[in-house]
Amino acid sequence: MIPLAAPEMPASGALNVLAALLESRTGQQIAANRAWRVETTLKPLMRARDIAGLDQLVSAILDGKHPDLADKVVDALLNQESFFYRDAAIFEMIAAAVSALDSLALGRRVRIWSAGCANGQEPLSLAMLFAEREEAGGPQAPEIVATDVSEAALARGRAGRYSQFEIQRGLPIRRMMRWFDQEGEDWIAKPDLVRRIQFKRQNLVGDPPPIGRFDIVLCRNVLLYLSASHRGRVFARMAEVIRPGGLLVLGAGETVIGQTRAFTPSGRFKGFYEATGLGCASVAA
Ligand SMILES: C[S@@+](CC[C@H](N)C(=O)[O-])C[C@H]1O[C@@H](n2cnc3c(N)ncnc32)[C@H](O)[C@@H]1O
Repeated sequence: MIPLAAPEMPASGALNVLAALLESRTGQQIAANRAWRVETTLKPLMRARDIAGLDQLVSAILDGKHPDLADKVVDALLNQESFFYRDAAIFEMIAAAVSALDSLALGRRVRIWSAGCANGQEPLSLAMLFAEREEAGGPQAPEIVATDVSEAALARGRAGRYSQFEIQRGLPIRRMMRWFDQEGEDWIAKPDLVRRIQFKRQNLVGDPPPIGRFDIVLCRNVLLYLSASHRGRVFARMAEVIRPGGLLVLGAGETVIGQTRAFTPSGRFKGFYEATGLGCASVAA
């Protein structure tokens, strides 16, 4: 699983091993300008395990006596930054897109996939939006499938527990009071909200997508640090699972342009993408 096996190595060697571990497990690359953060990020884990530095950490991973250590390192190195209603205008546009799909009287529930859902803020934001719409007499809320490569992130999403700092980021106070209960310093999502989401582990670069086809796929702020070839394969897979007329939603700094021919900017929903039917074609192909 781990590509290199040197018991003692200089700090840069240790960094290379950790970067290779992360990439082999998730496809995520550590950009040169973020390498300095690796040691800081891993400090709490190393302190908890009484490990003095990166060299010793790598040795401990390689000696095989700590089966969960590599998983913990990968989790810690993943960027799980997220917050409620991130890029708020996107959620209004998703609501409009779902209304358009509803109005086609499809006779089935709209399906949304939140890929790389981190600690659950993205799917919970969707769940609140559509639960409120349903309560106001609107159509049945879409089915929401939320996936991430990190079990730790998924566990947090399922628990729906957020600190005061996290709950205040992007969540209007009205929604906080309506959908969360305070417990000590934390806020816990009501079971009725969490049950609206199916949280599942899925590695975008290694696992098949969730079963079935989707009307809307959100994959925001996930593909940024994948290699071009991994990104191309993820786009091709996504094009296969999106229903005709469905939409792909990327992060604010991400685009399909110059990356893949599987998607093209949507004429109907600005900033979203539609599958072209050239599912397997990367730009280079
Ligand atoms: C920066 S967060 C973005 C969260 C959310 N989509 C948002 O925009 O707020 C990126 C998430 O992608 C996940 N991730 C990274 N590589 C992945 C992979 N290969 N498969 C699935 N999830 C991955 C990380 O664990 C992390 O939770």
